[in-house]
Amino acid sequence: MSDSRPIGVFDSGVGGLTVVAALRRRLPQESVLYLGDTARLPYGTKSPETVRRYSQRNVEFLASRGVKGVVIACNTASAVALDSLVEEVPIWGVIAPGAECAANLTHGRVGILATESTITSDAYGRALRSLDKGLEIFSQACPLFVPLIEEGWLEDAVTEAVAQRYLAPLVAAQVDTVVLGCTHYPLLAPLIGRLMGPRVQLVDSAVAVVDRLAEDLERSQKLAGGESDSSADNHYCVTDGGERFRRIAGEFLGDPGISLEWVEVL
Ligand code: DGL
Repeated sequence: MSDSRPIGVFDSGVGGLTVVAALRRRLPQESVLYLGDTARLPYGTKSPETVRRYSQRNVEFLASRGVKGVVIACNTASAVALDSLVEEVPIWGVIAPGAECAANLTHGRVGILATESTITSDAYGRALRSLDKGLEIFSQACPLFVPLIEEGWLEDAVTEAVAQRYLAPLVAAQVDTVVLGCTHYPLLAPLIGRLMGPRVQLVDSAVAVVDRLAEDLERSQKLAGGESDSSADNHYCVTDGGERFRRIAGEFLGDPGISLEWVEVL
């Protein structure tokens, strides 16, 4: 059996394209319907109530377009909204797969980098402690990373100085594993890896959630039938600012010609 309906993916903006990139690598035959809620970005500084409301609308929008399931690519939304969402389609969040991957890799000292809301929610901390009570967990909010990444300053002296400051407490704590707990941060993985040193392992939650998704779709016989990406149809919806999204998506995915639609999600 197979299921050719698209996989819905939403994020507050462009950051969830790191999940789409991971999806294209692992499941190239799957079609993706992406929603970037660019009109209401950022989620990472908003209250949990507001992020829950936006997330519910996003899931309803994707379900109304006939997706077979929804991946919440946004760490903030996964952290504060996943448990409260009401929908008929299956939903995957990034926190549990990312935490499991970190718990499997670590020797006991885990650092978490994320937005302020994700850190305040302690979602990664709770997920990690439920897997292993003995873990030492060190959390660091990095609010300046998202605008620097969206500016395209991935290998820049300013970004390096900011990263050094954010990472200093994790270096001092001698963590052995760092969770990149925000959709954008995998784009800084080379810089973060360099600053943390070669003995520290980085966990990309985007890759972790796609691994989980692939296993679940296979188990439930809901993978798309095609052998290759030739049958995959990827479509991108944004709630504002299409041209900016197209530019950044070109950089994230190496694909300047994406199919883009402006939508209202109320
Ligand atoms: N997508 C958000 C996250 O992963 C980062 C951007 C935002 O603050 O909306 O937490």
